Amino acid sequence: MNPLWKIAPTASPGSPFEPGARHDVIIVGAGLTGLSTAVMLAREGLDVAVIDAGGVGELTTGANTGKVTLLQGQTLAKIRRSHPISLVRAYVDANRAGMQWLTAFADGAGVAYTRRTDHTYAQSPGGLDAVRAQHFAAREAGLATRLLAPADLPATPFPIVGAVALEDQVTIDPMLVTQALARELLAAGGTLHTGIRATGANGRTDSRVETAAGPLFARHIVLATGTPIIDRGLYFAKTRGLRSYCVALRVPGDALDGTFISVDDPNRSIRPVSPADGPGETAQLVVGGNGHPVGRSDGETAAIEDLVAWTRQHFPGAEETHRWSAQDYESHNLIPFVGAMPRGLGRIRFATGYAKWGLSNAPAAALRLTAEIVGTDRHDRPRWMTSIGTRLTVPADIVRGAAESGRVAAAAASGWSRAETRAVPVPRPAEGTGVVANRAGHPVAVSTVGGVTRAVSAVCTHLGGVLDWNDAECTWDCPLHASRFAPDGTRIEGPALRDLPGLPRSSGR
Ligand SMILES: Cc1cc2nc3c(=O)[nH]c(=O)nc-3n(C[C@H](O)[C@H](O)[C@H](O)COP(=O)(O)OP(=O)(O)OC[C@H]3O[C@@H](n4cnc5c(N)ncnc54)[C@H](O)[C@@H]3O)c2cc1C
Ligand code: FES
Repeated sequence: MNPLWKIAPTASPGSPFEPGARHDVIIVGAGLTGLSTAVMLAREGLDVAVIDAGGVGELTTGANTGKVTLLQGQTLAKIRRSHPISLVRAYVDANRAGMQWLTAFADGAGVAYTRRTDHTYAQSPGGLDAVRAQHFAAREAGLATRLLAPADLPATPFPIVGAVALEDQVTIDPMLVTQALARELLAAGGTLHTGIRATGANGRTDSRVETAAGPLFARHIVLATGTPIIDRGLYFAKTRGLRSYCVALRVPGDALDGTFISVDDPNRSIRPVSPADGPGETAQLVVGGNGHPVGRSDGETAAIEDLVAWTRQHFPGAEETHRWSAQDYESHNLIPFVGAMPRGLGRIRFATGYAKWGLSNAPAAALRLTAEIVGTDRHDRPRWMTSIGTRLTVPADIVRGAAESGRVAAAAASGWSRAETRAVPVPRPAEGTGVVANRAGHPVAVSTVGGVTRAVSAVCTHLGGVLDWNDAECTWDCPLHASRFAPDGTRIEGPALRDLPGLPRSSGR
């Protein structure tokens, strides 16, 4: 499971870690949010340090489909359904600013990208209303979308009965551009610590980020960790973590020219990759889809096999080169949360909730965080920044939030009752599989990976969800708020901060 963009292992650039060091700003997370904020602040003359538990582009930034688009599937229609057009416009303007910043950065850094027409399309007549709704919301928000007549639909090898199109959108290699951001940060005198996990942050007088290697101090802290790693504001409950799958294939014949995302099931996101906007020497196709809330799936491997089968059916002779999965966080009204964290004394900021459209939302969030940190006068900020900053919660958002809370409660209850159905000792799980069993009322997670059988606590260190085995990534995933852990209990991502306690092997056998 390795993204196409991580075609060869790249050593992350880094700076030696000095516990107790002081900076103007510490940013936790070297994804697109963290590094674009860091570069903007460094350009303003601030001393910025970025830390990441892994490397540059370690998680979602290094594992997406690399489309930078303002059309964004059905997003605009969904926001419009329960919000005034002014909010949709502010959302589009924010994403336009993010996209312009990213492409200008790429131009300056020599990172190539391709301009393509993006399509939101229907695979069957049942999807046509959704396509039209997206077109009308986009037009209202000032985008020059075209609703394609049947005769104007692009010739595609997969079914398409209707589409809305937006020209001049962008495909880019997300790793190349993120690595270029890291290089600019270091060239500007900034600091980048990879392999350093933050274990806490507080905004009191001596505001600091705690790490396993010692504390770092700063006047401002930005949590650019996908979902915030501290629970103030309860953003883990105001968003949901969605995991999706991608495959990259070499396809014989003419590659597609445009990009596509379907409104109806099976959900498909399709993106051609050429040597000009990807890492390889030959043209490829990336197909994504089959997403689900993290930890709530009956078969992650089956989800990915289904994508491969779909692509082979419509592109005969396609040869798989890469498969991977990743997750992103979605707010209940699809508008990201960006700004100061409650009770962070104005010193801790964060950004989350891009709903799988972070390549423009992340730089937009970075523009906003930068304006707040450098203290740009409110009157001098672009209109979208202030209007999107005053969030409007309407009854439909509350209903969606309540529905998700209900699903979380159901997942919590079913996890504990499932754990009770099987008592330890359990037979050694087959290679690549994991089971949860009950040891004196405590769920134990037993898995075998690479020939090694391990037992760890099956209780998420965030708020106690019982973990579920992800058979594609061989990880323990939390169905409540999307934390993930390696088979040995090491925390990978999500709001959990601590690893799962290891248990003696005899616990599971
Ligand atoms: C399958 C998929 C396809 C997508 N395709 C697209 C697309 O085509 N176009 C688009 O616009 N968007 C797309 N997205 C969304 C986009 O990739 C994300 O919104 C974006 O990358 C989020 O960037 P980020 O920097 O906020 O988070 P991440 O990239 O997740 O970065 C967070 C970083 O924080 C680090 N971190 C976390 N916790 C800690 C800690 N405790 N200490 C230190 N470091 C920590 C992580 O290691 C990670 O590097 C897609 C998402 C998915 C899942
Ligand atoms: S992520 Fe919240 S309980 Fe697991």
